[in-house]
Amino acid sequence: MKKGAKVRAAAIGEGLKVKVYPDPALKMPAENVRRFDAELSLFVEKMRVTMEMYEGVGLAAPQVGILEKIALVSWEGFFYVLINPRILEEEGSQEGDEGCLSFPGIYASVKRPARIRVAAMDVNGTERFYDVDGFLARAFLHEMDHLEGKLFIEYLSTLKRGMIRKKMFKRAMEEDR
Ligand code: NI
Repeated sequence: MKKGAKVRAAAIGEGLKVKVYPDPALKMPAENVRRFDAELSLFVEKMRVTMEMYEGVGLAAPQVGILEKIALVSWEGFFYVLINPRILEEEGSQEGDEGCLSFPGIYASVKRPARIRVAAMDVNGTERFYDVDGFLARAFLHEMDHLEGKLFIEYLSTLKRGMIRKKMFKRAMEEDR
């Protein structure tokens, strides 16, 4: 049942594929979106379908090879579209496990601010404000980092980061064979 739905979603997604570390696109900073048109809405919709297909909580455009400041977060039945987002305020700190669609099967504890206030455009170019905390703040920050070419492994110790990188490089080499 789930499998069939996934295949259909893949067809609607028309080939948006999530890039896996060490793909160079993941390390590049994205540019601001300037045009809020039908094409942007279509792309955001494709990203949403892709995120659902991969069962992700969030997805940033650089992860599908598009270097534009577009990030999506889906959490507890709510769907957030963050275009050209910026952090206005941050407060406190929290620590918790994080994963990433670009690092399949890898989870690590990352320290982040506990609460944030974010300004971002929606698909229509209207500025919106979000006051979020806990896991949702973590998800926003993780996706916003992607827009700067920053990955969650950069918050880890040199040792832990090295282990993950080694595992990912090994996996990439095996897939190239
Ligand atoms: Ni990620």
